[in-house]
Amino acid sequence: MALLDVKNLSVKFDTNDGEVTAVQNFTFSIDKGETLAIVGESGSGKSQSVYAIMGLLAKNGHATGSALFEGREILNLGTKEMNKIRANDISMIFQDAMTSLNPYLRVSTQMAEVLMQHKGVSKSEAIRQSIDMLDAVKIPEAKARIRMYPHEFSGGMRQRVMIAMALLCYPKLLIADEPTTALDVTVQAQIMQLLRDIQKEFGTAIILITHDLGVVAGSCDETLVMYGGQVMEEGDTEHLFETPTHPYTMGLLKAIPRLDQAGERLDTIRGNPPNMMNMPVGCPFTARCDFATEQCRDEKPPLIGSPHHRRACHRTVEELA
Ligand SMILES: Nc1ncnc2c1ncn2[C@@H]1O[C@H](COP(=O)(O)OP(=O)(O)O)[C@@H](O)[C@H]1O
Ligand SMILES: [Mg+2]
Repeated sequence: MALLDVKNLSVKFDTNDGEVTAVQNFTFSIDKGETLAIVGESGSGKSQSVYAIMGLLAKNGHATGSALFEGREILNLGTKEMNKIRANDISMIFQDAMTSLNPYLRVSTQMAEVLMQHKGVSKSEAIRQSIDMLDAVKIPEAKARIRMYPHEFSGGMRQRVMIAMALLCYPKLLIADEPTTALDVTVQAQIMQLLRDIQKEFGTAIILITHDLGVVAGSCDETLVMYGGQVMEEGDTEHLFETPTHPYTMGLLKAIPRLDQAGERLDTIRGNPPNMMNMPVGCPFTARCDFATEQCRDEKPPLIGSPHHRRACHRTVEELA
């Protein structure tokens, strides 16, 4: 059984201007201890798809479809039940640590509270376990630093505190939404290394959400490429990066800065993401695709291929060469 099995997840928002379809028929699964990347440009529906699973959609949003966690339906679960799952089974970290940490409370208080509430341990035991977790995420002098306030940490260290907090109850699944976007490149690399170490040490499954394909290679087993709230291509990360078969993935890969090509102009994908208020009936990428035909405009391509690599594109791989 998959750890998390998501089928036909769709997310819509009611707005004054009409209905926004942020995610459409999103299907994926992740096994125990596996790492899955969800990549795509900003606005492609990455965050809303996991917010829907976590029960964190804005009030005007609603989700349909199914999300089975260890075989149990958790989509649209009540707040009380979902709080239990969020504490013990699935934990989430965000781009900006300050959104998850309370600026007015010492880190010790915030971490201990989680353990006292969800594990019923004493305050002293909670502090001890919290220090251990800060050690595990490699915060130097954890015993002294746990008494500090969030703003007294650097950006990278604060991100580590947030990761430690998310791991306190040893969740089976950690969802990291752009965890390194606000950090400089060196610290980014350190946090990615930390996530890999954590996965080895605790066997945590990780969903990594990012617009930056540069951080995915070497970190994730599987990659899903999203565009306009739909999956364009998915498969084993290495295979997908070596032989991308969808024009959108090809475009994203060309836009990654490479150290060995310093100074060369990067190719960015022309045009803008689709209007989610008025999604095209066919492939959402049609308007920006150099290979699009009438069929692409009129018919949605199915996501098909082998278990290791699937694509949603009407054109054959040969035609894209
Ligand atoms: N509360 C909301 N009301 C209307 N539209 C929303 C709301 N929240 C998000 N959206 C829309 O959902 C789409 C996908 O957003 P999101 O999943 O956050 O993108 P990203 O891939 O950058 O994480 C965006 O077009 C955004 O405008
Ligand atoms: Mg996002």
